[in-house]
Amino acid sequence: MAVKYTPEPFRIKSVERIKMLTRSEREQKIAAANYNLFGLRGEDCYIDLLTDSGTNAMSVEQWAGVMRGDEAYAGATSYYKLEAAGRDIFGYGYIQPVHQGRAAEKVLMPLLLGKGKYAISNMFFDTTRAHVELAGARALDCVVAAAKNPSVRAPFKGNMDVAQMEKLINEYGAENIGMVVLTVTNNSAGGQPVSMQNFREVSAVCKKYSIPLNIDAARYAENAFFIKRDEKEFQNTPIKEIIRQMFSYGDMFTMSAKKDSIVNMGGLLGVKEAESPLVLKIKANCISYEGFYTYGGLSGREMEALAIGLYEGIDEDFLRYRIGQLEYLAGRLDDAGIAYQSPVGGHGVFVDAKAMFPHIPYSEFPAQALAIELYKEAGIRSCDIGSYMLGNDPDTGAQLEADFEFTRLAIPRRVYTQAHFDIMAEALISIKAASGKIKRGYRIVWEPPILRHFQARLEPISG
Ligand code: F0G
Repeated sequence: MAVKYTPEPFRIKSVERIKMLTRSEREQKIAAANYNLFGLRGEDCYIDLLTDSGTNAMSVEQWAGVMRGDEAYAGATSYYKLEAAGRDIFGYGYIQPVHQGRAAEKVLMPLLLGKGKYAISNMFFDTTRAHVELAGARALDCVVAAAKNPSVRAPFKGNMDVAQMEKLINEYGAENIGMVVLTVTNNSAGGQPVSMQNFREVSAVCKKYSIPLNIDAARYAENAFFIKRDEKEFQNTPIKEIIRQMFSYGDMFTMSAKKDSIVNMGGLLGVKEAESPLVLKIKANCISYEGFYTYGGLSGREMEALAIGLYEGIDEDFLRYRIGQLEYLAGRLDDAGIAYQSPVGGHGVFVDAKAMFPHIPYSEFPAQALAIELYKEAGIRSCDIGSYMLGNDPDTGAQLEADFEFTRLAIPRRVYTQAHFDIMAEALISIKAASGKIKRGYRIVWEPPILRHFQARLEPISG
């Protein structure tokens, strides 16, 4: 049954021209980029769904804020405005600006992790896993089993498997678990939300073993919207109160503000107890890596835009439209029998490439193969969230097999229209119709040792 498109709660004031290459031009471009979507120029992509991160459209209020930005090195008014917004929305005492999410990870993780330590998460995103490993520790994923089956339409498939988490704590020893990370929404599992009930249970186990709980909060507003939609007791609770309650269960958060906070650059690191010794260490690390603690790598104008974006991102009309766009695209895929991580999550449609190309093994990267086909078909840039992204075992160097082979169509906020969504659906439908013609996947001909998917060079396997 067709899903209706949710109309935009805004109109367009400024536009950007995009060009569409021919199919043969696109085939040349992707070959020249060594079949790595990150190697393409942005201008060669008609619809750029590589990420929803930093690709959002700012509002007139945010652009006006850019002019108001206070560029004082220390104690800028824009910093105090950002601090006040952060305290108000999240209820944490200490709010540290940083230039993006991974900067928060770089500042925080070495303070709690080191050699011989472990971090447990409902699922680490790639940069977060990398920072755990760079700190000398090991990252353990612990998502609920339902997440691993894309066709199971269970709510809150981003949840931590709490029983399994407690088992891991006992197996590795509570004193060796440096932190638990609750990623909301759970990006790698398909933008799937975490329920308030799961927040409560994870927090209770962390308290029992005195393990700090860090919220990886890039998509906290979308997560709150899902709690309101799908968790009965929150049906009538304002989004802001839901967010407050989510954060009340954590001790600290690392946040890429380039997603739900609707800016092009920015991040935050929050600590519930402003007076804790951890805050002093965070400030010291921040001064070394990011900049003085009242700007943390951001200009005054960026902090001003972020302080405004934090509120725009939790507006319920906006969130209804935002999730509505995803539901519209998912509905079109349902009608065409195209499998994806379902129900659709918050920031993208994660197409099940294993179902699209069942004959291509994980070692030939089916999700990367589908991303390349989407680009050739319609100039749509997406990315692999599967074995290609997961990489090699840091101890043995062997290619790991991911739980999923997803091709992610990540949707920038306030950027694309209904017609663009129709093009996305139609491109996938025509690839599915000809999926038998794609017989083999890709092999890597060169890769760097860490976060290889950004830079690796690939070639198609013939035959
Ligand atoms: N945590 C999560 C859950 C993320 O999705 C990301 C980034 C980060 C941390 C790191 O933040 O990019 O600001 O340094 N995800 C982007 C993506 C890049 O495309 O999903 P960052």
